[in-house]
Amino acid sequence: MINIIGVQGIPLIKPGDNIGRIILEKIKDNNLSLEDGDILVIAQTIISKSLGRIVNLKKIAPSNEALELYEQHLKKAKNKGIPIKEPELIQLILDESKEILKVEHVIIVETKHGFVCANAGIDKSNIEGESNVALLPKNADKEAERIRYTLKKLTNKDVAIIISDSFGRPFRVGAVGVALGVSGINAILDKRGEKDLFEHELQSTLVGQVDNLASAAQLVMGETNEGLPVIIIRGYSFDLNEEASISPVLREKNLEIFRDKTAFSNILTSRRSYKFKFDSKEIEKKIIKECIELARWAPSAHNAQQWRYIILEKDDNRSILIDNMNKILRNDLEKDSKSEEFIQNKINRTRENFLHAPYLILLCLDEDGIEKYPDSERTQNEFILGVQSISASATYLLLAFSIRDISACWYCAPLFTKEIVKKTLNLPESFVPMAFFTVGYSIKSPKVPARKTLDDIIFKIKK
Ligand SMILES: Cc1cc2nc3c(=O)[nH]c(=O)nc-3n(C[C@H](O)[C@H](O)[C@H](O)COP(=O)(O)O)c2cc1C
Repeated sequence: MINIIGVQGIPLIKPGDNIGRIILEKIKDNNLSLEDGDILVIAQTIISKSLGRIVNLKKIAPSNEALELYEQHLKKAKNKGIPIKEPELIQLILDESKEILKVEHVIIVETKHGFVCANAGIDKSNIEGESNVALLPKNADKEAERIRYTLKKLTNKDVAIIISDSFGRPFRVGAVGVALGVSGINAILDKRGEKDLFEHELQSTLVGQVDNLASAAQLVMGETNEGLPVIIIRGYSFDLNEEASISPVLREKNLEIFRDKTAFSNILTSRRSYKFKFDSKEIEKKIIKECIELARWAPSAHNAQQWRYIILEKDDNRSILIDNMNKILRNDLEKDSKSEEFIQNKINRTRENFLHAPYLILLCLDEDGIEKYPDSERTQNEFILGVQSISASATYLLLAFSIRDISACWYCAPLFTKEIVKKTLNLPESFVPMAFFTVGYSIKSPKVPARKTLDDIIFKIKK
């Protein structure tokens, strides 16, 4: 059985107070004693107070950056009818953060500790003084360890300490308890390799052990005026670990998928050209159209949007088109004196790629959108601008597929068979076929092709 016991009578904490001794005194006053294996969950506020991490906002001079963030926040908070954070508080949030992630009605940051939370965890509640706020402890693991040592010295009991706070969650309403620092107990319980009820081996189960305990303590601790900042959890079985720290709860950056910047750079780096057989699972045409809808937002020279997309489904008699294109391909390869075997391989691969993809999308450049000049050089440049513009749209399209886990590959074949493509599909005179995109769900993961280094691609001009 697990007991959750609130320690009554913890006094208002002042800077320099010895939290370990105070807790022990009050445990005795409650006619309790510490036992081996107890977990003490301690509210961050009293730790911050004992460390003197209380700041009077009136003494803060906001920087220009804080004033700018205030303007952004003000609009959003007003629209949502949510209390406005003064520039002085925003300055403190900036001082306590490694990175500002979002400025909305709340300000979401990564704190210097690496926690992603609202307002850098700075809090007014349960702090004396109208304009005083509490900052998070700089190193809650260290404070937890200090308290564990004090209690061990005074009682010879092996207990674990969790310093807790409550954080809101991005996709669920309602704050829950979280651990900011630990001593004696592992932050994460690794269940990988253990068996479930049906003897299946668990592949990825990592339990947020100390956050669960912090949340359980929160039930008794309360958030408002309950005055119970110290909770004993008794009867929870865990392995004592003197080396434990909070750091395993912080997700490695390369495994973070929700942070905007990371998510976007992940999208850019994880998009791949898929050149294999596709899964037989169907894609709704609606989804293809949604992706093309996003491809409309690419930049284009003169905003001419010269791109035209033709969606060819499986039953659209693609084989005539492919056979016609292959005649041109054969002709070209024969002119290059390629062997029959080579030619046959190429032709088979083309058939396989373009015939069996669930969707084949043809991208054309509409020359009607191209500006014409009296001289050929400028007219030629305008054509290049058109090509550049449709390429931007094609890139958007590939990214739009990628974020929906749809695989695709860009093929240049129509560019080399323009006339026959136009004729077979009966396209308008102004259309110039430029590229095919094979589209479908993948059945394997392509290798990541090497990229040139930054030094290779950033050319430095000699002075
Ligand atoms: C303009 C263009 C034309 C391409 N044409 C072909 C093609 O005809 N056949 C092919 O297998 N891949 C083609 N690709 C795909 C490239 O091979 C691929 O983008 C490149 O190897 C890098 O791999 P990644 O897209 O997975 O990063 C083309 C890509 C672009 C941008």
